[in-house]
Amino acid sequence: PAVEFGLEAPFTVEYHDSIGSTNDRARELAGEGAADVAVVADEQTGSRGRLEREWSAPSGGVWVSVVSRPEIAPARAPLYTLAASVATARAAREAGVDARIKWPNDVVVPVGSEGDYRKLAGILTEMEGETDRVDWLVVGIGVNANLDADALPEGATSVRDEAGDVDRRLFVQRLLEEFDGSRNDLESVLPAWRDLALTLGQRVRVDRPSGELVGEAVDVTASGALVVETDDGRETVSAGDCEHLRPV
Ligand code: BTN
Repeated sequence: PAVEFGLEAPFTVEYHDSIGSTNDRARELAGEGAADVAVVADEQTGSRGRLEREWSAPSGGVWVSVVSRPEIAPARAPLYTLAASVATARAAREAGVDARIKWPNDVVVPVGSEGDYRKLAGILTEMEGETDRVDWLVVGIGVNANLDADALPEGATSVRDEAGDVDRRLFVQRLLEEFDGSRNDLESVLPAWRDLALTLGQRVRVDRPSGELVGEAVDVTASGALVVETDDGRETVSAGDCEHLRPV
């Protein structure tokens, strides 16, 4: 059963000690008509990542999914994902972590000067709606907070390893405040995202179902697609088409 989280947040918070997936619970609530609810769990036993990947979510992390019912066209929905990555990076930076954003929606910590990184957090956005209007959006945010990075999948890091443990309630509070501010001011999202992006200016390789693309990542579009300058001209890659992106 859900218990009160006990924080003043712009959202009602439903807390679970253990749950399958906060995104699944948030989708359920969205289906029942809920809005502005955040589902928070100490541990998830069936957490999902992008592209049907598994996501490790043991006790000690920050696992949260937010239900919004914005009056926007589905084409603008990716801005919510970018807003969540900005909010997450900002909350992590306040905790002392050098958090940056790797397109499309990973929050990472740079390692060395070659464009390498370790993953601190990931975002999974799911939505339902018509062609001209979003019904609901669930933005799921997973942050490796008070966890040992060496117990996490390869290439991951944690707030604990980078800067020491955080008060998870306060972290969630900051995250939700930042996210709420951004979703109410969508025009501010792209500039804020560009400022924190590790990917822009990098030479990258993107794996897509239609083949790989190599070039310099030069910008992100208003719908969250990455603009890559290749030898043959500019191409845009949508987040849904990106199986893997890495600096080359
Ligand atoms: C990714 O990097 O592939 C996205 C990971 C998203 C994980 C979060 S944890 C909270 C929410 N609940 C889930 O089942 N997934 C997201």
